[in-house]
Parts: sequence; structure tokens; C-alpha cells
Amino acid sequence: MPGELAVGIHDLSIATTRYALTHETLAAQNGVDVAKYHDGIGQRSMSVPAIDEDIVTMAAGAAAPIIARHGTHGIRTVLFATESSVDQAKAGGVHVHALLGLPSAVRIVELKQACYAGTAALQFAIGLVHRDPAQRVLVIASDVSKYDLGSPGEATQGAAAVAMLVSADPALVRVENPSGVFTSDVMDFWRPNYRSTALVKGRDSISAYLRAVEGAWTDYTRQGGRKINDFHAFCYHQPFTKMAFKAHRHLLEFCGYEADDEGIGRALRHTTEYNAAIGNSYTVSMYLGLAALLDNADDLSDQAIGFFSYGSGSVAEFFGGTVVPAYRVHLRSARHRDAISRRVPVDYAKYRQMHEHEFPTDGGDHPLPRETAGPYRLAGLFGHERVYETGADSRPDRSPATAE
Ligand code: HMG
Repeated sequence: MPGELAVGIHDLSIATTRYALTHETLAAQNGVDVAKYHDGIGQRSMSVPAIDEDIVTMAAGAAAPIIARHGTHGIRTVLFATESSVDQAKAGGVHVHALLGLPSAVRIVELKQACYAGTAALQFAIGLVHRDPAQRVLVIASDVSKYDLGSPGEATQGAAAVAMLVSADPALVRVENPSGVFTSDVMDFWRPNYRSTALVKGRDSISAYLRAVEGAWTDYTRQGGRKINDFHAFCYHQPFTKMAFKAHRHLLEFCGYEADDEGIGRALRHTTEYNAAIGNSYTVSMYLGLAALLDNADDLSDQAIGFFSYGSGSVAEFFGGTVVPAYRVHLRSARHRDAISRRVPVDYAKYRQMHEHEFPTDGGDHPLPRETAGPYRLAGLFGHERVYETGADSRPDRSPATAE
């Protein structure tokens, strides 16, 4: 609306892990036809954290370029979304605060509701900026998706972080009102506190996701949202990329449209490129879709994008955004592509070793070997305390806002 304050995503930066496991390698190990992974679920590889990488190191790696470009002025809040938390009390964002040298006059909190929490963080950040448009909020989502070895979910693992600077008059995407929201108490996917891997009812979780698409869209429409045809592209939560296609088909049919493959392909084109290589990154996944779209699509200036965020359990939200003209000069496309392409493929034995790694719980000193090639690393667990340090590539990136 004219005169209304525009608030949204001013900058966006992603990070992922040192290692990747290809689905060819997993298929050979599990005796599965690789076409099931490539075509059936739409995945090519998945990011695997090195032993000294976790949600904190990825989060700091994603956020550092944003702080280097914009400084800390106006940042009084950091919202950290994750469902692979490293502590039951302390917010992972406080470790990131130290690694990035953020000022003390900042509040930090960690948010959880499965994969939905990144969107909760974005919406809460927008509310804070509406209250005081001089403030900017650093939103970080970071997750490691982990299922049992040999389970059906194993092929849908992954890991990544996204950092977004939320501000008034944003340079990338204006986030619109209204939102459509939906909650339903279902046990489709969960991780009890005593487990390091998630439990899931695979097929039920897909049905729960699709019911949430209907619920969130229905509320979005009731709140006076756009018509489905207004949107140029759609970013869906992608536990595996084929889920976005299932979801969009379902939404079109729910809205009374015939869902043709070509139209669905056009609406989702580019949004699955990073997720197909990284895998499920939970809270980060939908924003990897946005990053891939902005980085790889032809000019999207003034185009409306639809966003569907889903977190098992379940909470979902549908909202719209408009791409800001001249956004391209602010992108980090080369850096994002490089973060994915420079990952080192591992064999099954190395992947298994990292999957099975757990710290002893004896309170002793457990330093970790240096493996990450990223700017921050987990040095180890010393007397029950996680200790982080700058890693191999800690050169400050002070590049100005010119497409990277
Ligand atoms: P599965 O049982 O191993 O696989 O588990 P399937 O037999 O259902 O096959 C998968 C697809 O591949 C099917 O396609 C097959 O036909 C096809 P569809 O019928 O669905 O269109 N297929 C083949 N295609 C080509 N060539 C072949 C071939 N063989 C089979 N040879 C499942 C799949 C996704 C259930 C499993 O990986 C899983 O449990 N994943 C984890 C749960 C999940 O991702 N759920 C999605 C919705 S819930 C969600 O998004 C939330 C979440 O992100 C968590 C959070 O919120 O925090 C997970």
C-alpha cells in the first residue's frame, strides 16, 4: 500500500559444510536404484558436516559476510532458528555473537518449531523493525538433518545455514502482509531429547505437509491475500526437492486449477537447485530455495513470490513477497555456488564415521582434529563446554554490495 513502510530481506547469505555424500554413493551402499533418489525424491547429494563443523560454525560462516558488508549499526536483535540445537539452555546465537565480535548491546534468542522456525524468526524480525524502523535484525537459521543409517529418511539428510538482514526499505525482497498460518498437533516427525537422529512416519509426514498447504493457503485467502495467479514463482519448504512439486500440484488442484507439469516446472524453476545438492536443511531449506531463485533466475524485479514454510508437528505459514528492483547488485551468487561446488565428496566409510561421531559425556577434554575449510570451527568439548575458534579461512570479507 502507498505510504506503508516496506520491510523485508535486505541481504541474504548461505553457508554449508566441507563434505558432501553423493546419492550414487548412498544408493550403491544401500542397494537402491539411484533413480529412486535422483528422480523419485529429486536429490543428487547431501551436505555432511566435518567433525569440527556444526550449526554454530555454519551460522557464523553465513552471517560473517553480512556483518562485513553492513557493519553492526542498528542490529540490536539476533534471532537464531534451529532444531539441531547444541545446548538445552544457551542459544547457539550467543556463540555466533562471540565469533563475529558483535556488540554487547544485542539481545539473542533461539527459536524452535521444526523446519518452520526460520519463518517465525523472519516474521518476528519484521515486527521489531515495524516498531523501530531504524533497527535491523539479524536472522540466522542453521540445521543439520540427521536420520538413522539405512532408514528411508537417510537419503533426505543435509546441512546448511542462512543469514538474513531484515530491515526497512530492503534491497532484496519486501515481505508482504497478510500471512496465512496453520497449526495441527500431529506426530509426523520428531526428535526426543535423548536421540541425535529424527524419527519420522515418512508417508504420513507427506500427507501432513499437504494438509498444511491447504490450511495455510485457506487462511491466507481469508486474510485477503493475493490470488494464486499473481505469483511469478513459489519457494516451498523442501525436505527433498520432489516435495515442492507435490505441494505445488496440490495447491493448484486445491484452488481448482488443472496442474500441468510445464506450469509447475515454470513456477518452481531454479528454487530447487541448491536444495538438490545440499539436502534437507530444515529451517534453512525454504530460504535456500529463495537464494537459488534470486541467484539463478532472469530479472525478477517487482515480481511476486509465494512462500510456503512447513515445520513438522506441525506449524505452517504461507506469505508473499515482492522482489525489489536492482536487487541483483546485492546478491552473493558466485559465493553461494562456490560454497556448494567446493564441498569434498566423501566415500561411505568416511560419511559413516562422521555420522556416528558423538562426544563422550564424561566431562573430560575432547579436542577435535582440524577438518573444516570454513572460517569458524568447533575446537572441541572441554569439561562439558563447547569451544569455538576461527578456522582455516578467516580472512575478513569486506566486499561492498556488488554482485559476488
Ligand atoms: P521411501 O519409502 O524410501 O520411498 O521414503 P518411496 O518408496 O516412497 O519412494 C519415493 C519416491 O521415489 C516415490 O515417488 C517412488 O515412486 C519413487 P512418489 O510416489 O512419492 O511420487 N521411486 C522411484 N522413482 C524412479 N525410479 C525408481 C524409483 N523407486 C521409487 N527406481 C520418504 C521416501 C520421503 C518417505 C523418506 O525419504 C522419508 O521418510 N524422508 C523423511 C521425511 C520427509 O522428508 N517428509 C517430508 C514431509 S515432512 C517435512 O517436510 C518436515 C521435515 O523437513 C522435518 C521438519 O519439519 O523439521 C522432514
